[in-house]
Amino acid sequence: MSCEVLVYGMGGHMGREVAALALGGYRGVSLACGVDVNGYDGNAVCHASLNEVTEKCDCIIDFSHHSATAPLLDYAVRKGLPVVLCTTGHTEEEKQIIQTAASKIPVFLSANMSVGVALLVELAKKDCRGFPRRGNRDRRIPSRPQAGRSQRNCIADRASPASGSSKG
Ligand SMILES: NC(=O)c1ccc[n+]([C@@H]2O[C@H](COP(=O)([O-])OP(=O)(O)OC[C@H]3O[C@@H](n4cnc5c(N)ncnc54)[C@H](O)[C@@H]3O)[C@@H](O)[C@H]2O)c1
Repeated sequence: MSCEVLVYGMGGHMGREVAALALGGYRGVSLACGVDVNGYDGNAVCHASLNEVTEKCDCIIDFSHHSATAPLLDYAVRKGLPVVLCTTGHTEEEKQIIQTAASKIPVFLSANMSVGVALLVELAKKDCRGFPRRGNRDRRIPSRPQAGRSQRNCIADRASPASGSSKG
């Protein structure tokens, strides 16, 4: 089953890359069309505005500019289309607009779409859970029998300066 994507910001660096993948049929994806205010120099349909889109599409991939996010989401909500928001630099107000839209349509947002970075962030989150919170006396780093006393104290002091006790 093919997924037809609309690439928003198709004339830009990233938009051109995504369009090339879709045109090549990457993982069953095909290109419905593109939209870019500044045009697209490749061999595919690219409109200057969403109002001109007549092609059927299943989802939107956005690599454009954060100021375009609000009208883009407005269009996606009206059409009931899922959006992959790759654009960065959103203001607090724009983030709120994204939250609201995400309660109506599927929205995937990531400031870095690299699988490696996503993995690193998840691993860092998991790792952080093993550390005591600042000022929380009840959670101490479990002592390791092979670690010397001074080494244990050093780790605990740095991780939880407010814990007071340095018993391992
Ligand atoms: N999430 C990620 O992993 C990731 C990776 C790279 C870039 N980005 C972000 O994606 C965005 C685009 O990056 P880029 O390097 O391709 O930039 P770019 O400047 O090369 O391309 C942006 C394109 O969007 C078009 N555009 C701007 N405003 C528009 C509007 N209102 N409507 C339609 N098209 C519009 C421009 O004409 C341009 O062709 C940036 O915000 C960048 O930070 C995210």
